[in-house]
Amino acid sequence: MHTELCDKLGIEYPIFAFTHCRDVVAAVSNSGGIGMLGAVGMNADELEANLKWLDEHVEPDKKYGVDIVIPAKYQGKGEEMDAQKLEEQLKSMVPEEHRDFAKEILKKHGVPELPEGEEVRELLGWTEATAGPLVQTALSHERVALLANALGTPPADVIKEIQDSGRPVAALCGSVKHALSHKEAGVDIVICQGGEGGGHTGDVGSIVVWPEVIDAVAPTPVLAAGGIGRGRQMAAALAMGAAGVWCGTIWLTTTESDCPPSQKESYLAATSRDTVRSRAWTGKPCRMVKNAWNDAWDASDTPDPLGLPLQWMVTAEAVIRGYKYETEAKDINFNPAGQIIGASNTVKPVRLVIQEMIEEYLDAVDRLNSLMPE
Ligand SMILES: Cc1cc2nc3c(=O)[nH]c(=O)nc-3n(C[C@H](O)[C@H](O)[C@H](O)COP(=O)(O)O)c2cc1C
Repeated sequence: MHTELCDKLGIEYPIFAFTHCRDVVAAVSNSGGIGMLGAVGMNADELEANLKWLDEHVEPDKKYGVDIVIPAKYQGKGEEMDAQKLEEQLKSMVPEEHRDFAKEILKKHGVPELPEGEEVRELLGWTEATAGPLVQTALSHERVALLANALGTPPADVIKEIQDSGRPVAALCGSVKHALSHKEAGVDIVICQGGEGGGHTGDVGSIVVWPEVIDAVAPTPVLAAGGIGRGRQMAAALAMGAAGVWCGTIWLTTTESDCPPSQKESYLAATSRDTVRSRAWTGKPCRMVKNAWNDAWDASDTPDPLGLPLQWMVTAEAVIRGYKYETEAKDINFNPAGQIIGASNTVKPVRLVIQEMIEEYLDAVDRLNSLMPE
């Protein structure tokens, strides 16, 4: 299972774990894979604090990485200005009708208001202006071995900055077109996510899109993402030529995951049929466990979700109130997850998830080998 990429990055297994939770990052890296900390919800100071913590909790010979989001397209792109001005301009573009509708859903479900004076940061790291400082913060930490970007090819200066620091840069995609754009821009590792994956995702399934992308960008290494939570799925990905696997959903129900209890319960109860691709939270198609929030926004007689980042600016307060008052908000919380959530029925430590994945992978390889003629 050790691929060339493992040697390049100094890791034991080609298991890449996307997560917003630093405890999961540390546990995956300490178990032989590589944890990738999702930084979109952080500002540079918060990221710095988390990376400092990781430097103390990831074993000295292990590595970890950071994931940012600079989308190829978003409202306000191309009119780059400082982050504060951009946020003000974008705020002025959000219709009151959308804000009122979001508030109405929260009220209907009895989710309390935030305490007076509690700030809602609406823009987060969804733009070049807000994600750029995160790159510099990540690069100032020696143990960061890889940076990845979601939702588009990273800008040329960001690719250069990362590569000049001696690190590879990865980027997510869900189609051959986007994979080729990454390759042309000089991205070192393409992460190809099939439509069953959690979070922002395309609509072509993993078993179809992985080999398409692997062939199209060869010899650039491709990590397979979308629907991987078990060793047999990992064996399928490597059999198709992937250089490793990139998983997100499977960590949500681990012991180390910081998801609030009611959210973990929703994840544990969900089957593989309970997710939906919806624009209701971020404005871009994102796979999540379906609940009353989706029903409200996806109904025909309610406001159409806006684009990214405007829709997120409408929903940011609901995300914060939802996590703070998780019991009241349990039926409307933002629960991004892929279809593999159906395989998560009990809470397990990260180390056990990885161990079971490896054991099942080895069984799958043995089974295939046993089919070969003597
Ligand atoms: C809760 C959650 C949040 C996510 N947020 C991001 C993100 O901020 N940046 C990113 O690159 N990918 C994000 N993703 C997608 C993952 O990186 C990964 O590609 C995906 O989870 C793989 O499919 P799987 O969920 O079937 O494992 C997210 C996925 C989940 C489940």
